[in-house]
Amino acid sequence: MLAAVPPPVTVRVPGKINLHLAVGALREDGYHDLVTVFHAVSLFDEVTVTIADDPGIEVHGEGVAEVPLGHSNLAWRAVELLSRHADRDPDVRVVLRKGIPVAGGMAGGSADAAGALVGLAALWKLDLTRDELSRMAAELGSDVTFALHGGTALGTGRGEQIVPVLSRHPQHWVIALHRQGLSTPTVFRELDRLRGDTEPKERPVEPVLEALACGDPRQLALSLGNDLQAAAVSMAPDLRRTLRAGVNAGALAGIVSGSGPSCAFLCSSADAAVEVATELAGVGVCRTVRVVHGPVPGARVVDPHEPP
Ligand code: C5P
Repeated sequence: MLAAVPPPVTVRVPGKINLHLAVGALREDGYHDLVTVFHAVSLFDEVTVTIADDPGIEVHGEGVAEVPLGHSNLAWRAVELLSRHADRDPDVRVVLRKGIPVAGGMAGGSADAAGALVGLAALWKLDLTRDELSRMAAELGSDVTFALHGGTALGTGRGEQIVPVLSRHPQHWVIALHRQGLSTPTVFRELDRLRGDTEPKERPVEPVLEALACGDPRQLALSLGNDLQAAAVSMAPDLRRTLRAGVNAGALAGIVSGSGPSCAFLCSSADAAVEVATELAGVGVCRTVRVVHGPVPGARVVDPHEPP
């Protein structure tokens, strides 16, 4: 008798912003040592994996023209990695539904890889520990481990070593999406160029951790910081206007998210975030805006009976 084909598995996985991003010197392996605070926010991609005779990847949603298909897609590399680990053929179809901006500095590609790992492990009923999944995630990319875990976390190494951070209250944000994406390696290279021979400046992480523990958005607003912001602004100078417009619209603070160009604006409440978003959308300094909150959990299998 033929074995029944398992039903498709869908995983929901969030994008991230960095509340703190201190970039160290360029390492010999081409990466930079980081001290960062990741914060998962309520912008999600959905990753569906299905057993299929025509293996491959398809992408739906905004910005799909810029998403690579085949081996250069990180989600497909996750499928290949898990296939080797499980000693199985990658006889699956992966469907990505993008809600996280493409090339936006919010780790959308890493989220898809984390979603593919969790989805395929469930589809194939692999009994993997969280540690095994984390090791595979780290092999795939610097931000994939965090996308698995979500929440708020301190990241070190090249970003792949994470520990959870106490974060007392939900925080409310407006995300401004830019008209064009920025390539992460290019932004890191621009930072190296801007720095020249000067040593990276100290950017202590403690004030962010203290603000998160106390939960006051006003205190958090004073401690946000991102070493990649100057490089992102150097490559996309109109981000300066976007950052100014968000604060003029009533946000407590604005910051470029990771390598950009998405900007994240911290607001004092959910209502304030709606007001800031409405005003910012009217100024014409970005493609569109989203109101989100964080922290939210990392990659999770969606219950098929859950309403959408
Ligand atoms: O690890 P991931 O593939 O996401 O990194 C993309 C690129 O970003 C790297 O190839 C590197 O150029 C840059 N990067 C870096 N230092 C890090 C993380 C990423 O220079 N800690």
